[in-house]
Amino acid sequence: MKGILLAGGTGTRLHPITRGVSKQLLPVYDKPMIYYPLSVLMLASVREVLVITTPDDRAQFERLLGDGSEFGIALSYAVQPEPNGIAQALVIGADHVGGDEVALVLGDNIFHGPGFSGMLRDARTGLRDGHDGCVLFGYPVKDPERYGVGEADADGRLLSIEEKPEKPRSDRAITGLYLYDAGAVEIARGLRPSPRGELEITDLNRAYLDQGRARLVDLGRGFAWLDTGTHESLIEAGLYVQVLENRQGIRIACLEEVALRMGYITPDACYALGEQQAKNGYGQYVMDVARAAR
Ligand code: DAU
Repeated sequence: MKGILLAGGTGTRLHPITRGVSKQLLPVYDKPMIYYPLSVLMLASVREVLVITTPDDRAQFERLLGDGSEFGIALSYAVQPEPNGIAQALVIGADHVGGDEVALVLGDNIFHGPGFSGMLRDARTGLRDGHDGCVLFGYPVKDPERYGVGEADADGRLLSIEEKPEKPRSDRAITGLYLYDAGAVEIARGLRPSPRGELEITDLNRAYLDQGRARLVDLGRGFAWLDTGTHESLIEAGLYVQVLENRQGIRIACLEEVALRMGYITPDACYALGEQQAKNGYGQYVMDVARAAR
């Protein structure tokens, strides 16, 4: 399975902050926003990831993440000249995907909760055995009209999906993590742009729904799917991460730790990454987890 991390867009709701810097590079407490969705792909055992940015921002993402080798993964980069829709990421990433299954994640989505790695493993199994063509992740919210909204039967089969409906049929927001079989790129290529001129991800997902091959996994109440779209929600996400990290002495979406735990890098390599940042708590933490794993 290949990965695509979509980190383009205009970030207008966060102006003036995002007039000078990409939204997905903004800090969420102790690390850049993009660390969170990248850690999700790494936890899903996806090690070849295409990062799609705006043309202006690409160099900064490359400076931050490089070729991924320090985390034991392979990162490549592409640009989306205009924000012409989330599904366009699959068209831009067609060569990268190359007939494989693909996990697409939005660069501003933060997931945190128990059992997530297991859910990702199960989702991949469903795709591999051909049972599912796409796996979506739903989260109960109080304002579903702001999101893609899905409805599923008791077995998790998707029954309906709508983008920002005025009258939502459920409270299940469709989160920004989408797992697809090898047919996704072809479906994306065949989509008609919406009235806004975008290749809508909800239209792509509806194509799988029409085939009866779309699954909606419920993330449930104990899970956190955090919004970062407004000034308020961005600081709330940072505070959530700070509270959990300080209380438990752990770090969420620490890429060095994820790479170590997934076996992508050795404890020595992890320790060396921590040493480079030893002047702060983040670097100290990376050194501690590496020491414990030796
Ligand atoms: O976050 C989950 C939601 O993301 C889903 O529930 C919706 O179904 C989906 O349409 C999307 O809704 P948003 O209103 O959040 O979409 P937005 O246009 O804000 O884009 C989400 C992120 O993707 C944002 O960080 C910018 C980036 N993006 C978006 C578009 C349309 C791109 O990089 N390129 C694009 O062309």
